Amino acid sequence: MFSKKSAKAVSTAILMAGATTGFAQSIPSLKDTFKNDFGIGTALNNGQIEERDPAMTQLIVSQFNMATPENVMKSALIHPKWDTYDFVVPDKLVAFGKKHNIKINGHTLVWHSQLPSFIRGIHSKDSIQTFFNDHIKTVAGRYKDNIFSWDVVNEALNEDGTLRKTVFLDYLGEGYIAEAFRLTQQAAPNVELYYNDYNNEQPAKRAGCIELIKKVQASGARIDGVGIQGHWHVGRVPFKDIEESILQYSALGLKVMFTELDIEVLPRNFQGADVSQRMASNPSLNPYTAGLPDEVQKQLAADYEALFKLFLKHKDKVTRVTLWGVNDANSWLNGWPVRGRTNYPLLFDRNNQPKPAFYSVVALKK
Ligand code: XIL
Repeated sequence: MFSKKSAKAVSTAILMAGATTGFAQSIPSLKDTFKNDFGIGTALNNGQIEERDPAMTQLIVSQFNMATPENVMKSALIHPKWDTYDFVVPDKLVAFGKKHNIKINGHTLVWHSQLPSFIRGIHSKDSIQTFFNDHIKTVAGRYKDNIFSWDVVNEALNEDGTLRKTVFLDYLGEGYIAEAFRLTQQAAPNVELYYNDYNNEQPAKRAGCIELIKKVQASGARIDGVGIQGHWHVGRVPFKDIEESILQYSALGLKVMFTELDIEVLPRNFQGADVSQRMASNPSLNPYTAGLPDEVQKQLAADYEALFKLFLKHKDKVTRVTLWGVNDANSWLNGWPVRGRTNYPLLFDRNNQPKPAFYSVVALKK
């Protein structure tokens, strides 16, 4: 659709327009660019769901046709007390999706992180089972007609592919995963159901993920897709593992999605996205407060380009690519795994302007 040359010309025009209006109207749209290939999603926070900033709303609705709540549907927030659910912002999210023609992916029903604090006081199998059943039935049931899909289970695997030790595994045994899919299907029969994880493109974890999926399928419960979160690092995106994963997961009859894509540019000493893992703050870990050096910007653009090229190669298998945030200022990677950093992992910068990575991705479709 856009040659590199015309993309550059458009980019200059936009920078100028952006400087005067604060928002560029004429930038290419990701969702339109890839409309015949896969859905393009983003993660939304409270301010975005509540449309507090019109320029942000405009950017979201012009660029994305799918969205995942960054936090508001996690159990700690949607189910804060044993008998209390808080549907205020999740309902607004659903209304936002309807108003702007954006499909909502619910995130997430069963996850060991961001659990309500009352769970810590529960020490019996019966009570955990009751929480599990009620939570899925109530939350999935409420949105059965107005969301597109659920990340039913999130991050149930260790890096070696074995099942992660969680409150659910401890009390309910390994059958809890298939049971979560069965209960969600019962509560929301028309909603697509996914398993979601990070590093599940890595061979050992992928093997565990395949085993997990096969067990859900063997139980008779429905599973429609697998999400590879895609929290990767600049210059170290595991393209070969990603391609093998697309092929192997899709061979199980599943849709493959990249559900939380971001490419981080700052140093850290581990891989993955375990939200409980943190590093102490230190100035050497925050080198780009004044801006991203050109060579890193170029590498970021090259990585995004190669990734989207791979997604396009397998567009018959890849159904959605979701970026974990709208612009660099929103990214959780400014606060994790080190607090207070200046990170640059997404396609739009802190002023909602498209980055070189945006143009290299859009230029793949001429
Ligand atoms: C992150 C959010 O972006 C943060 O705002 C929150 O503080 C912690 O969780 N894997 C997931 C997401 O499945 O839900 C996580 O989101 C990032 C890692």
